[in-house]
Amino acid sequence: MNLLAQIDKENTPNHIAIIMDGNGRWAKKQGQMRLYGHSIGVESVRETLTAAKNIGVKHLTLYAFSTENWNRPKEEIDGLMNLLVHTIANEVDELNRSGVRLLSIGDRAGLPIECQEELASAIEQTSNNTEIDLILALNYSARWEITNAMKQIGQQIQEGKLQPNDISDEIIAQHLTTDGIPDPELLIRTSGECRVSNFLLWQIAYTEFHFTEVLWPDFKEADLYKAVIDYQSRERRFGMVSEQL
Ligand code: FPP
Repeated sequence: MNLLAQIDKENTPNHIAIIMDGNGRWAKKQGQMRLYGHSIGVESVRETLTAAKNIGVKHLTLYAFSTENWNRPKEEIDGLMNLLVHTIANEVDELNRSGVRLLSIGDRAGLPIECQEELASAIEQTSNNTEIDLILALNYSARWEITNAMKQIGQQIQEGKLQPNDISDEIIAQHLTTDGIPDPELLIRTSGECRVSNFLLWQIAYTEFHFTEVLWPDFKEADLYKAVIDYQSRERRFGMVSEQL
């Protein structure tokens, strides 16, 4: 049956976050270098973004480079940064045509300067688009983000601008790099791994998880729809009992 027809348009997740995993294994299976897997992974990014927009998702967050990824071989890191810079530069016009606003989360200042510049330029050029936000997690780690928020809040207390008792969920959320972006309702991880890997730890308090065996370069429109159908089959109780919903 047509997957799209099975999706309840009234109950589409507003925000989907994805841990794109399995590029290296996909490449190895093809007898290719890991970077080839990443470059084919960009096709999956394009397809997923279009599919998400089709069903009315308003925010799509992709884990493109974690703080831990700096531990990979230099050649792979350089190749990934190069791919990011070129993809962002090549895609800006298409993002504008499709109404996509590009945003990033993570420690942008720790990225290579050309990556920072390309990203800042694309973010600026797409800033008026309203169809969907494409949020790239780059040099991102949730523990870094939370630690950073604590430092900022501590500073405000030291300066007398905030009292310890004023600290609330909202105040903490305002100091995360996701400030202003609603929490994801659905988190997808590809490649059969069932871990969260330091991604959006604060923001996924009530998020539904969907794990799929599909490797990221093979992840297509239909795979996103299957994840959304799975999400829609769940009952989200937020700590309550069924009868209260
Ligand atoms: C995980 O697979 C993938 C990454 C760490 C990088 C993902 C990046 C892209 C798909 C390019 C993104 C580009 C844009 C513009 C968003 P892995 O290398 O960990 O695979 P493995 O677990 O099989 O080794």
